[in-house]
Amino acid sequence: MSTFENSLENSSALKYLRPEILAMAGYTPGEQPKIQGLIKLNTNENPYPPSPAVYKLLKEDFDPSLLKLYPDPVASELCKELGESVGLGVENVIAGNGSDDILTMAFRCFCDKDRPVACVYPTYSLYTVLAGLQNAECIQVDLNSDFSLPENLLEKIEKANLFVIPNPNAPTSNLFDSKTLEKICASFKGIVMIDEAYADFSGQTSANLVKKYPNVIVSRTFSKSYSLAGARFGYAMAQAPLIYNMMKMKDSYNVNMMTQKVALASFRDKEYLRKTVSLIIETREKLGAELSSLGFKVEKSSANFLFAAPPDRDGARCANLLRDEKIIVRYFPGRMTGEYVRITIGTPEQTATLIAVCRKIYG
Ligand SMILES: Cc1ncc(COP(=O)(O)O)c(C=O)c1O
Repeated sequence: MSTFENSLENSSALKYLRPEILAMAGYTPGEQPKIQGLIKLNTNENPYPPSPAVYKLLKEDFDPSLLKLYPDPVASELCKELGESVGLGVENVIAGNGSDDILTMAFRCFCDKDRPVACVYPTYSLYTVLAGLQNAECIQVDLNSDFSLPENLLEKIEKANLFVIPNPNAPTSNLFDSKTLEKICASFKGIVMIDEAYADFSGQTSANLVKKYPNVIVSRTFSKSYSLAGARFGYAMAQAPLIYNMMKMKDSYNVNMMTQKVALASFRDKEYLRKTVSLIIETREKLGAELSSLGFKVEKSSANFLFAAPPDRDGARCANLLRDEKIIVRYFPGRMTGEYVRITIGTPEQTATLIAVCRKIYG
């Protein structure tokens, strides 16, 4: 055991920590390797650069002297435009340092040891970690084997105060039908949080449910479709009383000034978003067809990634063999996911290399 590892277990300061923090594992983010020349398809980043409007803003228009000031604490200009785009007001939108920040606020607001959270399995693994931080029970309900929602979902999540569900789901890539989600919003006696991190690749949103249901929160991110993972911007939409109270849980200046400007410039460039999203969808469909022809089981994707099981149904082996060829994909060991790898959609060139490597391994 190294001195560092030894100190992690034996420091006299450990007794001051909340027991649930000591007991939990913490979230493991996808790897950000420093090695040059890798094809990085492991964290669902966008392969295309941000909008040219972002370059112009940072190179020509942004005045660095402004950085001496604090940013707008609630990103009002940005939130106003985001809200208006779906018929909502600025009072219906809260900005976050990425949508993980939004999720953190929601878990802090709605979960504690007496208020369980519910989610499906498999899903975004941050949810169980955030539940752990709140010392809240996390009720995980298995999806069907085709990753659709089980019939008895509402019954199983009945005890929860918050139900959080990505749509499209991650890592399984499938889209849940909006009518079914609306039924859950109407019947569930708690908050329904729909995490739309990948919604721009699906052509579907539940933003319309916000006006209709006082218990619905829809969150979004600029990390995927807007190519701004490094800038960290996400937001949530809900009725004003929920937004008002979530504001109490946020860091005072949680979205920095440059990010507010960059996100706004990017949001206004609708044509660039449309173009890059269509390219990714086109590449996704092509890659899916190629992998299927090699014997992969490819789940129907509505996101910017594929969830695909190789012909031998050994996801770990596949991830390792691809890594040997300098292609990094994400592998999730465990029940229902271990047969698969999750592959972010890259550029057509990266995809051509991936296909050639897969042909070599499995052809
Ligand atoms: C389902 C889902 N929600 C939220 C996020 C967080 O995105 P960000 O914090 O970059 O906005 C991710 C990131 O991969 C995700 O997969």
